[in-house]
Amino acid sequence: MPEMLEVRNLKTYFPVRVGILDSLRGKKYFVKAVDGISFSIDRGEIFGLIGESGCGKTTAGRSVLRLVEPTGGEVIFDGVDVLKLGKEELRRIRRRMQIIFQDPYASLSPRMKIGEAIAHPLIIHGIADRREAREIALRMLKRVGLTPEEEYYDRYPNQLSGGQRQRVAIARAMALKPDFVVADEAVSMIDVSMRASILELLEEFRRDYRLSMLFITHDIAVARLIADRTAVMYLGKIVELGKTRRLIDNPIHPYTKALVNAAPSITRRERREKVKLRGEVPNAVNPPKGCRLSNRCPFATDICRTKEPELREVESGHFVACHLA
Ligand SMILES: Nc1ncnc2c1ncn2[C@@H]1O[C@H](COP(=O)(O)OP(=O)(O)OP(=O)(O)O)[C@@H](O)[C@H]1O
Ligand SMILES: [Mg+2]
Repeated sequence: MPEMLEVRNLKTYFPVRVGILDSLRGKKYFVKAVDGISFSIDRGEIFGLIGESGCGKTTAGRSVLRLVEPTGGEVIFDGVDVLKLGKEELRRIRRRMQIIFQDPYASLSPRMKIGEAIAHPLIIHGIADRREAREIALRMLKRVGLTPEEEYYDRYPNQLSGGQRQRVAIARAMALKPDFVVADEAVSMIDVSMRASILELLEEFRRDYRLSMLFITHDIAVARLIADRTAVMYLGKIVELGKTRRLIDNPIHPYTKALVNAAPSITRRERREKVKLRGEVPNAVNPPKGCRLSNRCPFATDICRTKEPELREVESGHFVACHLA
């Protein structure tokens, strides 16, 4: 399968505000939110990105679309380096690259009816005229289960729940028939009763449009359901990457093991090795030397504290960044 997206050594650092003294001394600090990650997503593939809060998932997703400007690296979308595009070229490619934002309360304009929020981009991108755009919007509302769709079309975001807004955001992104979507916690607020059918709908879109997706979630069980392959992030780095089932059922990296242990909904495999990490996630301004998990990992040895482990293929298609793997 040809690659739809290839991300190479992507870095996104945010400057940190410093006190007057540091500022006078000319000191600058950065949050290394994404610190050199590489992965690729095939056409029609759903690629999961998991990890605890603050590990850099959203920043990675937004950087790929240049909604935040990356500090370095390459993002090759359908053969084009997105980071090198000028404004106009970027605008044109944007129709093909959509995002479902993590915060559904911030992602819809409060003054725009939700039907219009779906129809508007179709008109802007010259895909449909007003009448067609309305029809497509109605169809999409129905597909995401907001029925009767004529009634929902005229509602305002403040009349919807968080989960319903997420469904609008999905409808809006999918109406454009994109080639690639960043779905950032796209089902996190959707009622459990509705979630399975929305995940199925995403599957349908994937099949219908051969859509590729970067599926960001903190919920390992959701990743396990939908993602073909998954990468695990810790402090701005990918620590493990592989086929989702294999990765979650047989994690190799101590961080992935701890993450899977802590997921209440994944209780199978009683005999799985239990890994408990010490302390808390350090801040991303001054990550630990060597392996970033070394100060918390029960297995850490000297090399872990001095040398940064590379992502290595330990079995076919399964990559782990751990000296001990
Ligand atoms: N615009 C910004 N300016 C400064 N720091 C930021 C900015 N956006 C994110 N960060 C920092 O970058 C790091 C990664 O944040 P990010 O939102 O990407 O994490 P996340 O994995 O999506 O977390 P969550 O699961 O809570 O959504 C955090 O330390 C965060 O505080
Ligand atoms: Mg996030």
